[in-house]
Amino acid sequence: MKNLSSEQIRKEFLEFFKSKGHEILPSISLIPDDPQLLFTVAGMVPFKKIFWGLEDPKYPRVATVQKCIRTNDIENVGRTPRHHTFFEMLGNFSFGDYFKKEAIEYAWEFLTQRLEIDPSRLWVSIYKDDDEAFEIWTKDIGLDPKKIVRMGKEDNFWGPVGPSGPCGPDSEIFYDLGPIEGCSSDECTPACGCNRFLEIWNLVFTGLYQDENGNLGELERKNIDTGMGLERIASVLQKVKSNFETDLFMPLIRKSENIFSIKYGSQESNDISMRIIADHARAATFLIADGVSPSNTERGYVLRRLIRRAVRYGKLMGANEPFLYKYVSTVQEIMGKSYPEIIERSAFIVETIKSEEERFLKTLDQGLAMVEKIISTSKNIFGQEAFKLYDTYGMPLDILLDISNEKNVRVDVEGFNKLMEEQKHRSRESLGVQSFVDSIYESISNFKTEFVGYESLESESRVVAMISNGEEVGSVPNGNEAEVIFDKSPFYAEMGGQIGDTGRCEFSGGNAIVIDTYQKANLHIHKIKVESGTLRIGMNVKLIVDEKRRKSIARNHTATHLLQAALQKVLGDHVRQFGSYVGPEKLRFDFTHNSPLTSEEIEKITMMVNEEILKADEVKTKIMPLEEAKRIGAMALFGEKYSDTVRVVLVDNFSKELCGGTHVSNTGEIGIFMITSERGVSAGVRRIEATTGINVLKILLDQFKMIENLSSKLSCQKEEIENKVKALIDENQELIRENGALRKSLILQNVKEMCENARKSGKKFVAIRVENLNSSDLRDVADDALRIFGKGAVVILQENGEKVTLIVKSTLNNANEIASNLSKHFGGKGGGKGEMAQGGWNGKIDMGKVEKILEESLK
Ligand code: ALA
Repeated sequence: MKNLSSEQIRKEFLEFFKSKGHEILPSISLIPDDPQLLFTVAGMVPFKKIFWGLEDPKYPRVATVQKCIRTNDIENVGRTPRHHTFFEMLGNFSFGDYFKKEAIEYAWEFLTQRLEIDPSRLWVSIYKDDDEAFEIWTKDIGLDPKKIVRMGKEDNFWGPVGPSGPCGPDSEIFYDLGPIEGCSSDECTPACGCNRFLEIWNLVFTGLYQDENGNLGELERKNIDTGMGLERIASVLQKVKSNFETDLFMPLIRKSENIFSIKYGSQESNDISMRIIADHARAATFLIADGVSPSNTERGYVLRRLIRRAVRYGKLMGANEPFLYKYVSTVQEIMGKSYPEIIERSAFIVETIKSEEERFLKTLDQGLAMVEKIISTSKNIFGQEAFKLYDTYGMPLDILLDISNEKNVRVDVEGFNKLMEEQKHRSRESLGVQSFVDSIYESISNFKTEFVGYESLESESRVVAMISNGEEVGSVPNGNEAEVIFDKSPFYAEMGGQIGDTGRCEFSGGNAIVIDTYQKANLHIHKIKVESGTLRIGMNVKLIVDEKRRKSIARNHTATHLLQAALQKVLGDHVRQFGSYVGPEKLRFDFTHNSPLTSEEIEKITMMVNEEILKADEVKTKIMPLEEAKRIGAMALFGEKYSDTVRVVLVDNFSKELCGGTHVSNTGEIGIFMITSERGVSAGVRRIEATTGINVLKILLDQFKMIENLSSKLSCQKEEIENKVKALIDENQELIRENGALRKSLILQNVKEMCENARKSGKKFVAIRVENLNSSDLRDVADDALRIFGKGAVVILQENGEKVTLIVKSTLNNANEIASNLSKHFGGKGGGKGEMAQGGWNGKIDMGKVEKILEESLK
C-alpha cells in the first residue's frame, strides 16, 4: 500500500479519473446554488439538476474533490475517530454515460492498483436485492461472495439531499482494519457495526428520484455518483487510527498542544476538546471564506454555533481570551494550496472569528455560572432556563447539550423549541403583518403591470384596480387616497434598496399625485391622492414621473455600484453588499468588513469613484442568462434568488452588477460623489452614507458658510481659524491649570491652620477632609500637613462620587494600622507601611465618626 499525503491523494484521484476520460471540475462553494440546501453536503450537490434531468450535462463524466459541510452529527465530532463537520469528498460522476459495471471497476482499480491497497482487506455491501451489483463484484472483479453483504434501505440506499431529488441504491467499499479494532468475532462483517470495517467509498447508482411525499420514480438517465471521504482514505494510507491523526488534522492538534500547553493523548477529555477545535477551526475558516458571517439565522447561526462551541471547549482547557483565530494560519498551511480562497480572505477570516470569540467570551462566564447554579440543585434544566441562556448569554442549545451530557442532567429541548417558536412568532407579529388585508392583494395578484420606466418617464395608461381602506373600489373622489394598479407604468416600485418613484397622474376632469410606488404580493402599486375630480376604474390616464427626483435617485444608484466596486478594489474581495438604500438625497450602503475605514481608505475610495465619474463612461444594461452573468463575474446579492435571465448593469471595466434599478446613462451625469459618514452597524458589517450631484454642492456650500461664520466670530481670516482655535484651546488649558493651583493653595491654607491648631492642642492626630484633588496632589497635601503637624498622624480624606479615598502619614509608625482600621470600620480596605498607608470605602465621609474612631484607637 502506498503511503501518501492528503495532497498526493487528491492528485492521484483526479489524475486517475482524468485518464478514464473524466473532466476535472473545481470544488463549488460551501453555499450551493440550491434553495433546498443550506450547505453543500456531498460531491453530487453541484450536479443535482443534471441527475434530475432538469439540466443538460456539459461533460458526460466528471470527477471532483468537493469541500462539504454536514452538521447533523455535530455532537459526535471529536468523540469518534471519524466524525467531522467540514470534510472533503473525492467523487466521480457519470451522467447517463457509464453505470454500475464501470463504476465498480474504476473504484476497484483505483484502490488496488493505484493506491496498492491489499485486495484481501476489502469488503463490500450492496442493496439487498441488487443482484446485478452482486454479479459484477463476484464475476467481473472476482471478489469472494463471502465478502459481500446485502443490506436494506437504511444502509445501502443514498439520497435525496433536501426534501426531493435524485437517489438510488448503492454499494459501499470497506477496509478491514483487522479483528483487534472490532468485536473480534469470527462472524464479524461490515453489517456488524463494530469499528473493524471502515467504509471508505460509496458508489451510488443514481437511477431514481424521490418526490416531496417520498414517492420514488425512475430517472430517464442512469447516473453514477460516488463519494470517498478524503480524511478516511488518508487515515488508511497513512496507517493511523483516526482521521485526526492524519496530516489533515495533526498540525491543528499540535497547535492546541502549543496554545494550551497540554499533551495530546494525556487525557481523553482534553483530546476530545482538541479534536473538536481542530474540526470547527476548519469549518469556520471555510465558511467565512465562502461569505458566511456569524448571525442568529440559518447559515450564520451554524457558523456562530461552531465558533462558540470551539470557544467553550477551549475554555475547558483554560482559555480566557480568544484563541480560535490563531488556527486559521494552520488551516491555510494544510489546505491553502488546494483552496486559495482561504488565503485570499485571510485577514477577514481571522478578524471575523476573533470578534465572534470576543463577543461570546464576554457572556460565556455568566452563562456557565448560571448553568452551574441550576445543576447544583437540579437534574433538569427547564426550557425557560435553556431559552434564557440562549437569549441573554448567547449560549447555543448544543453547547448546553454538551454540558448536560457531561454532567448527566437533562435539558427540556421541547420546551426550549416552543419558546423559540413563540419568539419567532412575536417578531413576525411585531412586523405588523395583517393577514386579512394581505388576502385582498392576493385576490388580485394576477394583475400584471408592464414597467416602461427604463426608457421613459411618461406613459398613457389605464386604471386596472384600486384599493382603498382594505377594499377594492371602483372610484376615488377628490381628496381621497388609494392604492392603484395600472396596465403599464413608468413609476419604479421600491426594490433592491432603490425607493419608489413619485409624480403625477392626469385624467379627464382631474388629477392625482403619486405619493409612492411599491410592490406587494407581486403587484406594482401606486399610492395616490386625488387632488381634483374623481378617478375611476377603466379610465385612461397620463402618468408622469417626477423627473428631477428620479434623476437624483439614478445618480445615487449608479454611484452605489461604483462605490461597491471601489470598496472591493481598496478593501478586498470579502466586501459584500449587506443591504442598501438609494433615495434622492443620499445613498446608504452596508457591507461586510471588520474594521472601521481609515481616513486614507475613505479618501482613496472617494477619489476612485470620482475618477470613474470624470471618465464619463457609458452605463450599459444588458439582459442575459444568469449563467452568463455569473461567468462574466457580475456581482449578485448573496442568498438572493434570481430568475434564469437577469439584467446586468455595466460600467466599462469597473463595475458589473445584477440589478433591476434605474441608472444614469453616463457616469458623468453623477457630477460628484462624496462620503458623508462611515460607521459600524453590527458585527462585521459597516455602513457608508454618501451623496452625489447637487446634494454634494449643498453640503459644500453649507460648510463654506459655517467657515465664514467661524472666521467672523473669531475675528480672523479663514486660513487662520485653525491656529486661532489651537491658541484658544491652549489658553483654556492654562486657565484650568492655574485654577487648579489656586484651589490647591486655598486647601493648603486651610490644612495649615487645622494642623497648627491640632498641634497646639496636643492631639496625636489630625483628620482633614479635602475636595477635588488628584492623587498626586493628595499626597503632596499629606506631606505638607505632616510637616506642619510635626509629630503624630495626619489623615486626609476625599469623597469622589460614591467612593471615599484616604491617605495616612504618620511619625508614629502606625499609618498602616490607622488606614486599615478606619477603612474596615466603614466596610472598605486599607493598608501600607508604618509611615504611609492608603485606604477607602464605598459611601460618604462622616467626619464626626472618623474623629471618634481615631480618638478611640489612638488613646
Ligand atoms: N453522494 C454519496 C455520498 O455522499 C456518494 O455518500
